[in-house]
This record gives sequence, structure tokens and C-alpha cells, in this order.
Amino acid sequence: MSPQDILELHSPAKINLILEILYRREDGFHELKTVMQELEYGDLLRIEEVQADRLEFYCDHPDLPTGEENLAYRAALLLQDCYARGRGARLTLSKRIPIAAGLGGGSSNAAAVLKGLNALWKLNLSLEQLQELAAGLGSDVPFFLYGGTALAKGRGEQIVSLPKLPPIPVLLIFLPDQALSTPLVYRSLKWDKIKIGEKTGNFVQWLMERQKLANSDNVFTGQLYNFMTNDLEAGAFALADNLPALKEELKSMGLMPMLSGSGPTIFALCSDFEILPKVGNELSARGYHVILTSFSRKAG
Ligand code: C5P
Repeated sequence: MSPQDILELHSPAKINLILEILYRREDGFHELKTVMQELEYGDLLRIEEVQADRLEFYCDHPDLPTGEENLAYRAALLLQDCYARGRGARLTLSKRIPIAAGLGGGSSNAAAVLKGLNALWKLNLSLEQLQELAAGLGSDVPFFLYGGTALAKGRGEQIVSLPKLPPIPVLLIFLPDQALSTPLVYRSLKWDKIKIGEKTGNFVQWLMERQKLANSDNVFTGQLYNFMTNDLEAGAFALADNLPALKEELKSMGLMPMLSGSGPTIFALCSDFEILPKVGNELSARGYHVILTSFSRKAG
């Protein structure tokens, strides 16, 4: 097997810096505007070509299904069915991103499979072709084809890339064994308002103009928090009653916390970067899972 028959891909986590729900759509999805941020932290996906049209999926996490319930495996099946009949691959996932935690792990894995197999099988599919497949797999999958910082619209699948942000440190905090189902969070929200997503519009405009501001990363982090809001917090907080108290406690420790996606992970920023590891150690001693990472360092 030649080296080009094996690919290793980083499959990053994400947070939503802002998430506004505009209205509930006829198809049951919610129209939204959100700014998604790729993180440095992620999974590792190894892809290698196998002879015949076999698709094999292996994962080192015992709780993750490896059959068709797995989004990454479904991504491989879909790509094979649409563009690569007769081709095969072995996918091996080293899972680090917590499952069903609001960090986009499954969506990220699915996008990595699409990108990886497109390269491995030399399909030369365009970003638009991959995006169409990605949107069919899940609302968050298209973002991971772009990564970086991006505005997502529609049900989350329409992506506009934004200027790259500095690698701001971020603490991810969650209770082990606490997972939240995204459909349940949306359902417990009972959304009956109609909004235009003005806050996201203002945030995006500020991000676009940011190059003109001669801020240090610390000052920028403080300003960023003024824009941050997540409409899914009400739904998640109704299902997991430990979360509001955790958020308040993090605030009292001088951090700037918010729910990540549909939760249950809370992420926190701090304009004094030194504080994050200290708080992380304290929470981890109390049984929380804590990950100290940063916005993606990837160039581009
Ligand atoms: O697209 P995805 O499969 O990730 O969505 C999971 C569930 O989350 C949907 O079935 C729906 O209940 C909810 N959802 C929503 N509006 C969105 C995205 C997801 O209501 N924009």
C-alpha cells in the first residue's frame, strides 16, 4: 500500500459564538443565524483504501455506534452510492470530542469523511457538490467543510466564511455522562417568536471591521463576549437543571461562559488568559470534564 492510499485527518470540534433562532419552519426545523468557530481540539480520522467495495468503520469509543446510526459511516455510504460505486475504504476514528455534547463531533467526522474520501478516491468533487451531500447528512456538517469562523444560515447549512480570528483560549466544561439530544433541546424550547437575527448581523459586521481595530487578543476577547448569546440555552437549561448554576458560578469566577450549541457543554472565555487553567483545575478536581483548548490555529 503506497502512502497516498492512507490519509490522516484532524476532525475538529466547534462552538457557536452566537446562535439566534429566527422562527420555526414548516418542515419542523428552525431557521437560524449562527457564527460557528472551529476549535483546535478534535478527533483523528484515518482513512485507507481497501480493495472491493467494502466500507469498514472502527472507533476506539465504546459508546459510539459503528453502523448506519453513525453519521461518519453514513457519509461514506452516501459518497460511495452517489459518486464512487465499487470503491472501498477503512475508516478508523480516534474519538476525543465528547459525544452529544454540543461540540459538533459527529458532524465534523462526517465532513472529514467526505473530504478525505474525495481525496483518497480522487473524485475531484467540488466544494458545492460536497456541500450538497453534507447538508443532506445534518445541519452542522457543511460548516466543517469550511472550518475557521463562519456565519451559518438557513437550518445551519448555508455557510459564509468570515475573517479568521486569533487562537483565543477557551475552556470546555461538561459533566461526564451528561448528554443532551439536539431534537429534544429544540422541542423543549417551544419557539413562537419571529426574529430577523439582528444581533448576529451586528456581530458579523463587527467581525468584518475588526481588522481596523488595533486590539490585543485580551481586549478583543472581552468585546467578543458582549455579542455572545445562544437562544438554545433556554431549551437546554430546562432539560438540565445543573447548567444555569454552573454558568453563574463560572461568571462569579471571572469567566465569560455560554452554552455550546445545544449543550450540555458550557464553554468559557476570559480576557485574563492565565485564569482559565486555574479554573479548569478546580472544576476538574470536582468531577467535571474540562478541556483547555483555543480557537483554531489553522492558517487561512
Ligand atoms: O440537522 P440535524 O440532523 O443535525 O438536526 C437534528 C435535529 O435538531 C432536527 O431533527 C431538529 O429537531 C433539530 N434542528 C432544528 N433546527 C435546526 C437544526 C436542527 O430544529 N436548524
